[in-house]
Amino acid sequence: TYVVTENCIKCKYQDCVEVCPVDCFYEGENFLVINPDECIDCGVCEPECPAEAILPDSDDRAEAWLELNREFAEKWPNITRKGDPLPDSDEWKDKPDKKALLSE
Ligand code: SF4
Ligand code: F3S
Repeated sequence: TYVVTENCIKCKYQDCVEVCPVDCFYEGENFLVINPDECIDCGVCEPECPAEAILPDSDDRAEAWLELNREFAEKWPNITRKGDPLPDSDEWKDKPDKKALLSE
């Protein structure tokens, strides 16, 4: 599976949503997640993200995010169309240590 990781927080560009063939993205206030049980591992969303937030779960940096994607995918609504990115998305794009800013 692929997972959404820290770089998405406070950006939420949503380019990923448009390309997913199985519509397995779920939307929180300032972050999106992938439902790992629905993702078919096609990989097309990964290069679409301007923040490089999407990683395969085989990547070491994804490990801490897999369960979080699963958990929020159960709570948050499905998203199938790209909406507007968050207003300060470009400012937050390359900032590190955003995990504490994730709105549940
Ligand atoms: Fe959707 Fe494919 Fe990305 Fe999985 S890898 S979330 S199926 S676009
Ligand atoms: Fe987030 Fe990137 Fe999608 S910033 S909403 S994972 S395009």
